[in-house]
Amino acid sequence: MFKRIPGTKDILPADIAGWQEFERISDAVFKRYHYSEIRPPLLEEARLFDRSLGESAEIVQKQMFLIRHGEDVYALRPEGTASIVRAYIENNLDKTQGLVKLYYRGPMFRCERPQKGRLRQFHHIGCEVIGTSSPEADVEVISLAAELLRAFGIKDATLQLNSLGCAQDKKQLAQALRTQLEPQRPKLCEECQVRFDKNVLRILDCKNETCRQIVAGLKLGDSYLCAECREHFGRVRAGLDALKVSYEVSPHLVRGLDYYTRTVFEFKHAGLGAQDAIGAGGRYDNLVQELGGPQAGAIGFAFGVERLMLAAPSVAAGMGGCTVYVATMGDAARSEGVTVLHELRTAGITADMDYAGKSLKGTMRAANDAGARYVVIIGDDELHNRTVTLKDMAHQEQRQVARQDLIKELKSSC
Ligand code: HAM
Repeated sequence: MFKRIPGTKDILPADIAGWQEFERISDAVFKRYHYSEIRPPLLEEARLFDRSLGESAEIVQKQMFLIRHGEDVYALRPEGTASIVRAYIENNLDKTQGLVKLYYRGPMFRCERPQKGRLRQFHHIGCEVIGTSSPEADVEVISLAAELLRAFGIKDATLQLNSLGCAQDKKQLAQALRTQLEPQRPKLCEECQVRFDKNVLRILDCKNETCRQIVAGLKLGDSYLCAECREHFGRVRAGLDALKVSYEVSPHLVRGLDYYTRTVFEFKHAGLGAQDAIGAGGRYDNLVQELGGPQAGAIGFAFGVERLMLAAPSVAAGMGGCTVYVATMGDAARSEGVTVLHELRTAGITADMDYAGKSLKGTMRAANDAGARYVVIIGDDELHNRTVTLKDMAHQEQRQVARQDLIKELKSSC
C-alpha cells in the first residue's frame, strides 16, 4: 500500500467546495482592488531562493525540496515572491505596465516537521505590488489583506506591524541586537549561537524557551530607523489609522527572510495554537534590483490557505459566501417558495430549498448544515401579508420583509 508523504494532503471531492469558496472569495476581492492573477511555475532554479531569501534563512538552509537534474539544481518553490520577481524581470513587466499588481495562489513546498497547521505541501493566496515605494501602497496591501480576512469571515485575527528600515538601518538594528545579546550569548540555544554571527535578527523568532525569555527582555525601540524610513513608517501607520485597520506595532517582528526592508507585518489567529500565523508579508525594495532587474520598490503578502481554513471552518466546509435557504410551511407556501428560489438564483444569489417537505425544525437544521447565512421562511401568514420572514442565522434574529423588497434586501446584506 502506498501512502501519501507525511505533511501532504489529498484534497478530496468532499473538500473541494471549501477550496473553491476560498478561491471564489479571493478572486472577487483581488479584482475589486484591480489586481491581475499570475501563475509562475512550481519549479525554479534553487539559486533563485538562495539569492532572494538569503543563504542563512531557515527555508534555504533546511526546508527546500531540491531536485538534481544533470548539472542543474531545481527547487520546488517554498514561496511565491521570488518566482514572481523573477517573472517580472524576465518578462519585462516593468516596461509593458507601470505599477504591477499581481495576485497568485497555489502550492508551496517546505520540508518541515509536519504538525497541525504545518505541512510540507501547503497553499498560499498572496499578492505582490511591484514598482512603487510609496507608503500608500503599503496601506493598500495591508488593508487588502484585512479585507480578505473580513470576506472569509475571520474576525479574531490580530495584525502586528513593524519597520525594519532600509538595508543600512537593518545593519544598525543587527548591531544593536548583538550589543544587547552579547552578555547573554552563552545562554542562547545552539542554533542561535550560529544566528548570532550569521543572521542575528532571526534570534527574535526563536522558539526555544530560554531564547524567548532573553528576547522578551530586549529593549528594541526604533532608534535604528533613518529619517526617511521613520517618515515612511509614520505614513503607513497614519494611512492604516485613517482606514480604521487595527494593528499593533511590534518591535520584535522581523520575519525570517532576507529580502524584507521597511514595513513588515503578520496576521495571527489565537485559535490556532503553535502555528498561529495565518499570513504575513512586507516590503522588499531591493529584491528586484538584486535579482538583475531595475530599481523597483515592492510589497506583498501571503496567507496560508490551510491555516485560513482552520480559522474559518464554515468557508472551509464550502459554506462561505451568502447562501440563502428557503423554508416553507404548507403546499401553497411551497409553490411560492419555488418562485422565490428561482428569483434569488436569477438575481445571482446562491440559494437552495428542501423539497422533502420536512418540518420547519428539520428544514432549519438542513439550512444550518448547508451553511446558510439567511433563511427565507414562508407560511400562511406571510402569503396572506405578502411578506416573508428573513432569519439571519449568524445572529439568530428574524424580521418581516415585504415580499417585493426581498431581493433588494438580500443583495445589500450579502
Ligand atoms: P511566510 O511567512 O513564509 O511568507 O508564509 C506566509 C504564510 O504561509 C504563513 O503566515 C503561514 O500562514 C503559511 N505557511 C508557511 N509555512 C507553512 C507550512 N509549512 N504549512 C502551512 N502553512 C504555512 C512568505 O512566504 C512570503 N513570500 C510572504 C510575502 C509575500 N512577503 C512579501 N510578499
